[in-house]
Amino acid sequence: MFLKRIALLHEQIPSFKEYPFSIPSIKNLQQLDLKNKVTFFVGENGSGKSTLLEAIAEKCEFNTAGGGRNNYYDVHASESALGEYIRLSWLPKVAKGFFLRAESFYNFASHIDDVGAYDAYGGRSLHQQSHGESFLSLFSNRFKGKAIYLLDEPEAALSPQRQLSFLRILHDLVSSGDSQFIIATHSPILLGYPDATIYSFDNEAIEEINYEMTDHYQITKYFLLNRDKFLQEILDD
Ligand SMILES: Nc1ncnc2c1ncn2[C@@H]1O[C@H](COP(=O)(O)OP(=O)(O)OP(=O)(O)O)[C@@H](O)[C@H]1O
Ligand SMILES: [Mg+2]
Repeated sequence: MFLKRIALLHEQIPSFKEYPFSIPSIKNLQQLDLKNKVTFFVGENGSGKSTLLEAIAEKCEFNTAGGGRNNYYDVHASESALGEYIRLSWLPKVAKGFFLRAESFYNFASHIDDVGAYDAYGGRSLHQQSHGESFLSLFSNRFKGKAIYLLDEPEAALSPQRQLSFLRILHDLVSSGDSQFIIATHSPILLGYPDATIYSFDNEAIEEINYEMTDHYQITKYFLLNRDKFLQEILDD
């Protein structure tokens, strides 16, 4: 693995009253050690996962709207507010990689069409593939080798079955290709990948958490095992 530590440069922050420093998990961040080739960010909506992931992408000089270093295309408001206030520690530094944002994947697909580069993506325009197919094309064709991949909710496009396929691709890249992944996710399936560190952004801090302690695991498990009772609780007056 390559990226070892992310530190927040507290002394350079003008005010903790404004975004992104007002986000509790970011405000209280000192440094985050990455201990495994796969790191997950979990936490409630709005807890700061994408904010930190974008900042890392900017520091890696990836296109913060989605893409790698060589993907230059127009995007709206893609500058990371946090990027210049974090420091990344590498051993060794890698330049290769990719930032995937579910929201702007459509723009990325158009960019690949514009530059006629879809040979590298399964030989077919990403627009002619379904959302999930195009995601998996990207994972299986473009991702390889010594690189760092930053993925924001990759499950958004994937059926449960394809999430399992994704885990297989992830596993191959991590075990033979020496790739590193940081993945923000709400998927209890993706989070189940073994030998990963899970960082929770809840409770006003970024803290390591066990898989079984995540809301994603507990709520999904409770729901599946007690669906009638659960629905009664939330639907009845
Ligand atoms: N450009 C912005 N200006 C001001 N506030 C913002 C901006 N972008 C995000 N926020 C706020 O920062 C907080 C963290 O947002 P972020 O997108 O990092 O959350 P997240 O953990 O990725 O959530 P989700 O799980 O919903 O994707 C939220 O309260 C959000 O409203
Ligand atoms: Mg997000």
